[in-house]
Amino acid sequence: MTDNSKGLIIVSGASSGIGKAMSLKLLAEGYSVLGLAKSFDNKAAPENFSSIEIDLADLDQLPTELDQIAKNISEPIRGLVNNAGIGKMAFLEQLSVADMRLVMETNFLSHAIVTKAFLSQLKQQQSLVDVVFTGSEAALAGARQGSIYCASKFAVRGFAQAIRDECAKSQVRVSILNPGAVRTPFFDELHFEPGDAPQNAIEPEDVAELLITILNARPGTVVDEINLSPQTHVWQKKP
Ligand SMILES: NC(=O)c1ccc[n+]([C@@H]2O[C@H](COP(=O)([O-])OP(=O)(O)OC[C@H]3O[C@@H](n4cnc5c(N)ncnc54)[C@H](OP(=O)(O)O)[C@@H]3O)[C@@H](O)[C@H]2O)c1
Repeated sequence: MTDNSKGLIIVSGASSGIGKAMSLKLLAEGYSVLGLAKSFDNKAAPENFSSIEIDLADLDQLPTELDQIAKNISEPIRGLVNNAGIGKMAFLEQLSVADMRLVMETNFLSHAIVTKAFLSQLKQQQSLVDVVFTGSEAALAGARQGSIYCASKFAVRGFAQAIRDECAKSQVRVSILNPGAVRTPFFDELHFEPGDAPQNAIEPEDVAELLITILNARPGTVVDEINLSPQTHVWQKKP
């Protein structure tokens, strides 16, 4: 981190889509970013960006790996963005138990474990900290072919609300961003995607912009959650 950085922000899922857009926006705003993902491409990293390749769904290894990561961070942490996630969308009868487990562990439990790993340090820092979760419109209402995905996002939302309450007497604020369809590689593995028109999907940069709104809130005010949607909902089957 350079001396004039606005602080270090940890972003999971920083290799792609929303997390990548958030990281680039944070860097542009003067923060340092530590990105977490299973893999990053080998291109030269931007200044003030560092990355760690980690499988957040490997829950047995995760606490030990996070301990190591925390030990190697010497500066105060300004934010933790729990964003990594996957989608397995199908009718319940079509989902394997392995997929159900993977969605819950990646989208929910890993974030609970990451937050737990850093929380005492964040509370003790005596400086403003934002813990932000990428939820989803699926955190707000269940919908067909989304049973496990919605359940994972409802879990994230409940967890975020509880942690917000637990952090109320510290300088740690907890927020959740709930986007509808965002045009990212999230849909690469799915059988459907948002319509092609610009109003059929949010851009990842739109979500990144709202992360900055959360960070810029006056200390003492918490942005509990932000819901955002494409103006016109259109889903299309992929060929
Ligand atoms: N796109 C949408 O329409 C939409 C809408 C609402 C909410 N969201 C949520 O937004 C978040 C980001 O999704 P996205 O749309 O940006 O999708 P994306 O482009 O596919 O990005 C997903 C990110 O999560 C990381 N990730 C997945 N599994 C991981 C694991 N086991 N360990 C470490 N990192 C892992 C990926 O890294 P690797 O590639 O290295 O695995 C990648 O960086 C997710 O939580 C998703 O549920 C998406």
